[in-house]
Amino acid sequence: MAMQRVLTGITTTGTPHLGNYVGAIRPAILASRDELSESFFFLADYHALIKCRDPALIRQSSKEIAATWLALGLDIEKAIFYRQSDIPEISELNWILCCSAAKGLMNRAHAYKAAVQANEEAGEDADIAVTMGLFSYPVLMAADILMFNAAKIPVGRDQIQHVEMARDIAQRFNHNFTDVFSLPEAVVDEDGAVLQGTDGRKMSKSYNNTIPLFLAEKSLRKAINKIRTNLLEPGVPKDPDDSTVFQLWAAFASVEETARMRNEFQAGIAWGEAKKQLFELINSELADARDNYMRLMDDPGHIEAVLLQGAQRARQYSGEMICKVREAVGIGAIR
Ligand code: TRP
Repeated sequence: MAMQRVLTGITTTGTPHLGNYVGAIRPAILASRDELSESFFFLADYHALIKCRDPALIRQSSKEIAATWLALGLDIEKAIFYRQSDIPEISELNWILCCSAAKGLMNRAHAYKAAVQANEEAGEDADIAVTMGLFSYPVLMAADILMFNAAKIPVGRDQIQHVEMARDIAQRFNHNFTDVFSLPEAVVDEDGAVLQGTDGRKMSKSYNNTIPLFLAEKSLRKAINKIRTNLLEPGVPKDPDDSTVFQLWAAFASVEETARMRNEFQAGIAWGEAKKQLFELINSELADARDNYMRLMDDPGHIEAVLLQGAQRARQYSGEMICKVREAVGIGAIR
């Protein structure tokens, strides 16, 4: 059987939270252990520049995200784990793809359209605060993906369009020149739940309702106690399907334990008790990784060495690819 190449990037603008863990990191690390797949995971630090102008935050986030993936046991002998900005061929490919990507295609990107719409609703000029980085974001993402001929791209729903655009750009390039790129496909994990945050909306940094993944034990307990619930008293049946506490439980518990908790809800478990059990469950899954994480955060030299080694491996692929691309478009030595 042929090896399947899987690739995904993580934008370095925040601290990993339980939603990232359940929705993206845990499934990615599990999938990377598959003998028949080859995983490319990277810190999308150039993408971070599009939405963040705080250099300290980008540096801190890069460190936290790298430490998180390593602490959770990513096998860096098997998976290729690197930082986008360590692969100069990606920037070069970005430009070359800019010359194949239709502006009209970029006009349709959701993130760009949302920015324009917000401006119009505010009665402002449509282009206010819209940078070329935001506008051409999908081209950089296409460069990330096409560089490594990746087949499967695990992403959240909001990124499906970008992967389709990468496909479009690849097709157009192949048509204009020669068949250099294979066509990627987005994969959305249907049961990799979109976790709710402490206020019941989707857990997201932009809603300020996240529970960071590696909070110290005490703070984790506090954060779980703060999850919003209704006011039903102990003994009164509670609807599990309308509860963030239950949803979080289901994201961490086995099938049997989930069924048990469902019954406890119907039997009227007290919120305090449900939260106490939830804390214990999450804490036990994360405790060892949290110790690793704390050690790694105190050893940035090790994280850096791992990333540089990953970049070295990635560049064996990107170096070869950029030669093909240059040749295809007519850039290179006079002969
Ligand atoms: N844009 C993605 C996000 O915000 C991150 C990303 C950058 C990415 N390059 C990528 C994801 C390539 C998959 C493939 O989530």
